[in-house]
Amino acid sequence: MPCFSSQAAGGPKGPARGPDCSSCPGPAGSPEEPDFKREGPAGPADKVFFMRNNIAIDGPAGAGKSTIAKKVAKAVSAIYVDTGAMYRAMALHMIRNGIDPEDAAAISRQCQSADITIEYIDGEQAVILNGENVNAFLRREEVGNMASRSSVNPDVRTKLMELQRQLAARTDVVMDGRDIGTVVLPDARVKIYLTASAEVRAKRRFDELAAKGQPADYDTIFNEIRDRDYRDMHREIAPLKQAEDAVLVDTSDMTIDEVADRILEIYREKTGKA
Ligand code: DC
Repeated sequence: MPCFSSQAAGGPKGPARGPDCSSCPGPAGSPEEPDFKREGPAGPADKVFFMRNNIAIDGPAGAGKSTIAKKVAKAVSAIYVDTGAMYRAMALHMIRNGIDPEDAAAISRQCQSADITIEYIDGEQAVILNGENVNAFLRREEVGNMASRSSVNPDVRTKLMELQRQLAARTDVVMDGRDIGTVVLPDARVKIYLTASAEVRAKRRFDELAAKGQPADYDTIFNEIRDRDYRDMHREIAPLKQAEDAVLVDTSDMTIDEVADRILEIYREKTGKA
């Protein structure tokens, strides 16, 4: 059960492996890790300079990133990393500690006491917040809304970005989020910008909640999606935008299988892998 910790990341020059991380995979290139080549000169210490077959998928809330990323990860034998879940775990930490989403200083202070760790249990990502598996709480609307607010904080972003880079340096990943192709993994081999109209995304979320028997109001969901898009796209640090070298995939009129096939086609074109 590999685990990766935000505390273990240790900053740009810190250890790649935490002292208490006995279940983490060994250093890249060790027997349990696939071999990989260094291409070109080593980059700056805080950059991922190993050429892995990483896939970065960015896009707005509800575009289908996680469903697609999981499918693609399985097809290319990579690990799926849901960075939104990390921001949601941090948001949960803020909610539990009664932090005002507008109080930047309080968010910066509070984020220091969040030890966020990623474990893979039966192939599924589990987010561990201060020793507790918090996956069951992360999809709540209030957590998503707080995540959209607390994720503008530079201290939150730095802490989680280190964890994300640590993961991508160790193994091939399909990583989804808002700033993966632009900031976290600017050298990713494959970059996808996955989107869909706000109406389609709201309808998908409405149907998802209805299928679970949870009360839902389409207009409220639609307005929340629009607000979240605005915040994610207009924040000062690492705003959501399409990387120059990302391929745009609009999923509004596509099935899940069609989207996954399209991404795998792009992957084959970019990497030459079958
Ligand atoms: O993908 P999601 O809905 O689970 O993400 C929740 C929030 O986290 C989203 O509104 C913005 C933030 N986020 C981010 O800022 N950067 C990422 N790489 C992923 C998510």
